[in-house]
Amino acid sequence: MTNLNSKTAPLIDYNPIKLVLISLWLLFFCQPAQSQKTPLYNSFKPGGEWLAEDGIHIDCHGGNIIYVESLKTFYWYGEHRGEPRGASCYSSKDLYNWKKEGVVMEKGDIQIFERPKVIYDEINKRYVMWFHYDGNNYTVAELGVAVSDTPTGPFVLRDHYRPNGHESRDIGLYFEPDTKKAYIGYAADHTNLTIRIVELSSDYLSVTTNDVDIKAHCEGPGILKKNGVFYMLTSQCSGWTPNPATYYTAPDIMGPYTDQGHPFIGDAGNNSFNSQPCFIFKIPGYRDAFLYMGDRWNGGGRPESQYVFLPVTITEEGKMELHWYNEWDLSIFTPERRRE
Ligand code: GAL
Repeated sequence: MTNLNSKTAPLIDYNPIKLVLISLWLLFFCQPAQSQKTPLYNSFKPGGEWLAEDGIHIDCHGGNIIYVESLKTFYWYGEHRGEPRGASCYSSKDLYNWKKEGVVMEKGDIQIFERPKVIYDEINKRYVMWFHYDGNNYTVAELGVAVSDTPTGPFVLRDHYRPNGHESRDIGLYFEPDTKKAYIGYAADHTNLTIRIVELSSDYLSVTTNDVDIKAHCEGPGILKKNGVFYMLTSQCSGWTPNPATYYTAPDIMGPYTDQGHPFIGDAGNNSFNSQPCFIFKIPGYRDAFLYMGDRWNGGGRPESQYVFLPVTITEEGKMELHWYNEWDLSIFTPERRRE
């Protein structure tokens, strides 16, 4: 006879309801840690949502990318259009997957803070940020300059002024690897009617008087050099609405520049694939790998504005061309041969 009150009753309670509850609890709380929070990208998808490692759309507009060889890292700087406003920085090892390093300079009292461009000063081991410094109605029209000892900030404002007395709004930056000189192209007098190019001092902290009107119209200049020819891509002035961008060529960074028309091939909307240029990044490790960085502002500079990143081709005849890709990756470029 079984003694139901026996002290040797089983330790495990096989009550089915309890078992189901325990299983559910285990299922819910004992999930293995997620190895990857965000999708791992292995390509560019121009114009789409682009999540950083934190799972949030990248908020880094109108800026530029640098590669810091000693850290083997790409840094992307741009306008942080969410709060706090200012300049954001993202880092990456492959240009597809980005980690938010934070807001590296808060704009604070500066009313308009746009188009930050960073250059690394290898000699003084400093990161110098130039940007469009303005008042709410865009009539202050100055360059601002800020400095940081690390790529991830904080950048501290050092100065702001009109370069050689000229108005300055949208800016672009060009670094010449042969001479280590840097230049700023800026939408200048009067109210962006022309672009001027100014050479920076050797420590990149101030402008020199080598400053010319290149009679090119008119915003967001991105510059590249191939076979000794300088190519400048600029948009027209239509605020946050895209327009057909034009490229110019010159035998020297300071000009003279010649209008060569629109480089966006098959651009049905005639609006630079619905983007506005901000920079052309020469990707290291490849031969002539030029990355067009454009902003798709969608009529307003919001944090969720997208990016149009496309390869820039210089044809055998020396023409600049940009073709649309829904998706592409760096394998379209030819890797540079390593020096033995
Ligand atoms: C655009 C310019 C932007 C911003 C905007 C304001 O033309 O490229 O950076 O200044 O105007 O309307």
